[in-house]
Amino acid sequence: MVNGESIILFGPPGAGKGTQSGLISTITGKPQVSTGDMLREAVSDNSEVGGEAKSYMDKGLLVPDKIIMELIKIRLSKDDAKNGLLFDGFPRTIPQAMALEKLTSVSMVVSLVVQDDEIVSRIAGRRTDPETGEIYHVEYKPAPQDIRSRLLQRDDDTEDTVRNRLSTFHKQTAPLSDFYRDKGILIEVDGSGDIEQVSSSIEAIIKRNSLG
Ligand code: AP5
Repeated sequence: MVNGESIILFGPPGAGKGTQSGLISTITGKPQVSTGDMLREAVSDNSEVGGEAKSYMDKGLLVPDKIIMELIKIRLSKDDAKNGLLFDGFPRTIPQAMALEKLTSVSMVVSLVVQDDEIVSRIAGRRTDPETGEIYHVEYKPAPQDIRSRLLQRDDDTEDTVRNRLSTFHKQTAPLSDFYRDKGILIEVDGSGDIEQVSSSIEAIIKRNSLG
């Protein structure tokens, strides 16, 4: 069991979890852990886990809990996890949340609330810098002109896959809101404003909850 308390950044695909996680990590000192990033790394390494995960990710389905919990256990065993982690995009099912309870305690779940239509336009315009990992948007957060040619679009950011990811979110992941609300640790943030507005709301919430 990890001693420090962890934080969860929760929300639908494209809500802005990756965009806001750096800020929370800086304020709280908790390293960010994105299961999506871990899986994409496994895919690009051509590992066995990556090969299995890709078939789910390409369809907009969740990767099986067993694979995810193996990755999380390994991550939590590292030295920098002892004061807790900032989970981005994890847990995504009730069994994952219950398994996490046995590994670390969670002090706060920051839930970004964004409507589906807004999500589709955010994801369609998302571009990532493979060199720095920085996330851009063609309209809402344009990249500097000199690096635009190297930006990549994620394989699962097609319109069909996004619709599937949203449907998966509503069926399998959204019920976690009630799971954490019942524990009294869910804090909802309006994620529909621009990036700076959402950052200010998150910063205020974290400071109010004395974690910063
Ligand atoms: P993952 O990589 O976690 O994807 P996701 O949850 O679908 O989330 P995204 O990365 O798409 O969005 P985000 O909320 O980080 O938004 P971002 O900040 O980039 O998972 C991918 C796949 O892996 C899953 O489909 C599943 O198959 C698998 N997987 C991962 N974890 C799993 C788990 N625990 N269990 C099982 N399977 C798992 O922002 C999006 C865009 O919007 C960007 O272009 C950004 O610039 C822009 N933007 C951000 N905020 C704003 C704003 N306020 N206003 C305007 N634009 C904004």
